[in-house]
Amino acid sequence: MAGLIPQEFIDDLVARVDIVELIDELVHLKKAGREYKACCPFHDEKTPSFTVSADKQFYHCFGCGAHGTAIGFLMEYSHLDFVEAVEELASRVGMDIPRGGDTPRPRGPDSTPLYAMLEQARGYFRQQLAGHPAAPEARHYLERRELDAKILERFEIGYAPPGWNNLLRVLGKAPEAGQQLLDAGLITEGSRNEPYDRFRDRVIFPIRDRRGRVVGFGGRVLKDDTPKYLNSPETPVFHKGRELYGLYQALQIQGHWPRLVVVEGYTDVLALAARGIDYAVATLGTAVTEEHLKPLFRLADEVVFCFDGDRAGQKAAWRTVEVALPALRDGCQAAFVFLPEGEDPDSLIRRLGPEDFEQRVASASGLTEFLFSHLQEQVDLSSLDGRARLAGLARPLVEKIPPGALRQLVIKRLGSLTGLESAEIDEVVGRPSSPTRPSRPRISQSTDRQRPSLVRSAIQLLIHHPEVGATAAIPVDLDKLELAGTSLLLEILGLLAEKPSLSTAGILEHFRDRPEGRHLTQLATLAPPALSSEGLSQELQDILARLLRKLEEQRYRHLAQKCGNTALSEAEKEEYRRLCSAMPGGENPG
Ligand code: CTP
Ligand code: MN
Repeated sequence: MAGLIPQEFIDDLVARVDIVELIDELVHLKKAGREYKACCPFHDEKTPSFTVSADKQFYHCFGCGAHGTAIGFLMEYSHLDFVEAVEELASRVGMDIPRGGDTPRPRGPDSTPLYAMLEQARGYFRQQLAGHPAAPEARHYLERRELDAKILERFEIGYAPPGWNNLLRVLGKAPEAGQQLLDAGLITEGSRNEPYDRFRDRVIFPIRDRRGRVVGFGGRVLKDDTPKYLNSPETPVFHKGRELYGLYQALQIQGHWPRLVVVEGYTDVLALAARGIDYAVATLGTAVTEEHLKPLFRLADEVVFCFDGDRAGQKAAWRTVEVALPALRDGCQAAFVFLPEGEDPDSLIRRLGPEDFEQRVASASGLTEFLFSHLQEQVDLSSLDGRARLAGLARPLVEKIPPGALRQLVIKRLGSLTGLESAEIDEVVGRPSSPTRPSRPRISQSTDRQRPSLVRSAIQLLIHHPEVGATAAIPVDLDKLELAGTSLLLEILGLLAEKPSLSTAGILEHFRDRPEGRHLTQLATLAPPALSSEGLSQELQDILARLLRKLEEQRYRHLAQKCGNTALSEAEKEEYRRLCSAMPGGENPG
């Protein structure tokens, strides 16, 4: 997604937004020295350890470790995705995001006609439910399922009549229409390359995305044939792992819900809505993904997942826990309901009514509760070993939770269950770099390890003081140096030469989608080098000079080895001579 918004635009946006102004509106900031302070919005604290730097356009909490740029802050605080955060910031400063135009779409055909085609197909299926000669059977089927006209209307339920080429006949007249029907997944090509209708003699459930565009369909047989359900295939506009059936309809009623319920089937959503429970959504025959959950956690205070009471249901619930942990945000809860075996929300609500269902949902077990009860089943808490094992099982899960109150809650709970302090938990789990580990440090080695490398020092300096990089003289050939991090350092220097006014945040946004981004952001949270601005320039030039020296040593060793084996070219001889006289104690090879 990030690729669709030009980097130029992100640069301008980050330069124009003021992170202090942005955060101050949401969290009251107090000036403290060169920076601003507040109690951290991402974890519970009494004394402020959350700092915002106007120079760097960067925030960092020393308490929970949360940190990032203005875009990152909005993503965390307001639970937005990257594009949404950019949109929000752009509208604050009155900038229009350039779309399409000069930024080519990554791949695939233009989606616009597909949406139009899907919309037409939806209208066609809807008409057929009312008027096709074979439709009475479908209408009876829906009646038997106790779905009244109001629900059928709201969810735009349709009917795909029997026959193999209805859609081509009705919607396929324009020259491109056949290809569009194929691309939209409405028709499919058999082995003999003859296209035919995907959905035949089925009740049709149109699927709209959050913005209300029809992106695909589900279709159910009227009897007991197989497959019972058929869904649109993955297309340029339809991704099962992203869409949720019923979300659009729920958001039509209200944009934010105290509670959204996730169920498994189309008919569960409909049966619940028919009895006044308008806040149910369904995955489309796939397991829940993080892409499903991120918007859900934003759109509701609580997300309740419904599962069968059997073993398969327990397994699916656990999978959901693992997917949900990284997407969980403070202020949003996840909970789990297990239904009696053999029941789904549809059958249950028809048998026992909406109050019973709401009661079950209201008393759902919270994620932490479910997580620990599941883990506890696997260990014996009465033994030290068991408690240590619990800590071991929980750690990878805890690490998935973003920093914040929820994570701290889980750690606390783990501590109280195991009776271990968090340092002890580290010890038992065998985390290598635990500071409380009672090992005697070997002085020479540990000081060596603690001194950051030259390249890292330079990068850290640039992250904190980008202005210094803008004027640095970059030695030619330094790209030939074989030393970890050199190409990243040169990339940052190149970036700053091209855009001398980039702030810390501006640099970080360039690396948002790359693995280096995380390391750079980490460096931004460390203390800045304590030097004056001339001191900083000098420091950077020193480092570059020392790197150049390392390059010469590498070349020297390389040529020395080569000349032992083969003859050097004239140019190499020349270089070797020069390097020899430059090396300490180096003698002229003559
Ligand atoms: N599903 C599917 N393909 C199938 C069966 C199921 O894609 N062959 C998906 C559908 O999205 C369906 C969901 O899984 O809504 C739940 O399936 P299931 O529990 O079998 O059906 P119900 O929702 O109970 O459907 P019904 O009550 O209509 O039998
Ligand atoms: Mn069912």
